[in-house]
Amino acid sequence: MNNNINLRGHDFQLIPFGSGRRGCPGMQLGLTTIQLVLAQLGHCFNWELPTGMQPQDLDMAENFGLSMSKAKHLLAKPTYRLM
Ligand code: HEM
Repeated sequence: MNNNINLRGHDFQLIPFGSGRRGCPGMQLGLTTIQLVLAQLGHCFNWELPTGMQPQDLDMAENFGLSMSKAKHLLAKPTYRLM
């Protein structure tokens, strides 16, 4: 966030789709799909943390691996908001 790092393979700090001639040919479809799914989840639901938990209590530790996942799962409660 708040920087100009390009995720399409031009800046090696962040290469979720690889880079160069073997880079992911499905990049545009992947980006569009993720954006659509996230937008739907944000638009259709209100999201709450479990009772008593504050945003600053979230454990943002990461697992080491080929892709970076959270060490502890995020638990969030969705409530449908379009009725
Ligand atoms: C968010 C979604 C996706 C991510 C994060 C992703 C990530 C990657 C990465 C890291 C590679 C290896 C690149 C390299 O070796 O430098 C790759 C390769 C590839 N991806 Fe994706 N991908 C995604 C979606 C897709 C989709 C939607 C398709 C097809 C419809 C696709 C097809 C391929 C193919 C065929 C390769 C092999 C390219 C080659 O080495 O010849 N990917 N992808």
